[in-house]
Amino acid sequence: MKICETIAALRAMLKDAGRVAFVPTMGNLHDGHIALMRQARQHGDCVVASIFVNRLQFRPGEDFDKYPRTFAADCQRLTEAGVDVLFFPAESEMYPAPQQYHVEPPAEHDAILEGACRPGHFRGVATVVAKLFNIVQPQAALFGRKDFQQLMVIRSMVRDLALPVEIIAGDTVRAEDGLALSSRNGYLSAAERAEAPNLYRILNEIRSAILRGEQDYGRLERAAMDELAARGWRPDYVAVREKLGLQLPPAHESGLVILAAALLGSTRLIDNLEV
Ligand code: PAJ
Repeated sequence: MKICETIAALRAMLKDAGRVAFVPTMGNLHDGHIALMRQARQHGDCVVASIFVNRLQFRPGEDFDKYPRTFAADCQRLTEAGVDVLFFPAESEMYPAPQQYHVEPPAEHDAILEGACRPGHFRGVATVVAKLFNIVQPQAALFGRKDFQQLMVIRSMVRDLALPVEIIAGDTVRAEDGLALSSRNGYLSAAERAEAPNLYRILNEIRSAILRGEQDYGRLERAAMDELAARGWRPDYVAVREKLGLQLPPAHESGLVILAAALLGSTRLIDNLEV
């Protein structure tokens, strides 16, 4: 695997690379990331990954400083997964001066759910992803369904700005007990790790209730929030939404997705389940 730390080196490397499939990450790679790398192989001659912990998408007081940085182990996993090129820029390469131009997601995508809990988060994500797309110029890029709203924001950014890249979604990879893999799972204590799979169990119970014909989504959401709180979580939201734009059902006929975010101790976990 070739490692490029500068934009110039990456551009030179990719000059005659053919069709590029790109997987942006913030590192501390787990099987969810690696599944995207393997899937990327089906979409390009050259698979490019990036590792960059993007300050713009963290709010003051969030975990930017303590976000796990595990470069050596990440390189080994990427090499095993057959990734061709890793872009690993320093912050001074991506943001030599404070970023002045931003990609601003519309309020209908940004003022809800994750965006409401983390103001500015999706602006930071959209801005760095647009910048990475300009640097890597991939024909395809892969994102996980684990971050469902992020995937929606990226898809609508690409459509709205006519970016010449095909967005491909990868399924959520889970531990055997159902917990969605996440770099933040490493923050959990042993007791919290044992409790954590209940988030996915509760999403499954809402899904079963909907499939049985329950239509009072508000009641299901409140019951789930109450159960999480009773188990010691601090839930930010549990929400049944339509899949396409994450608006309140039945705004579209696209099908439903159940999304949740909750703090377990000081670790914020998110998950979702399509109905
Ligand atoms: P990061 O959290 O490192 O995730 C990188 C990619 O891996 C994202 O597309 C995410 O949805 C996907 N992913 C994470 N956990 C997953 C799982 N358990 N199963 C499947 N896919 C999973 O998301 C980001 O980084 C950043 O916001 C980024 C897009 C890189 C912009 O900075």
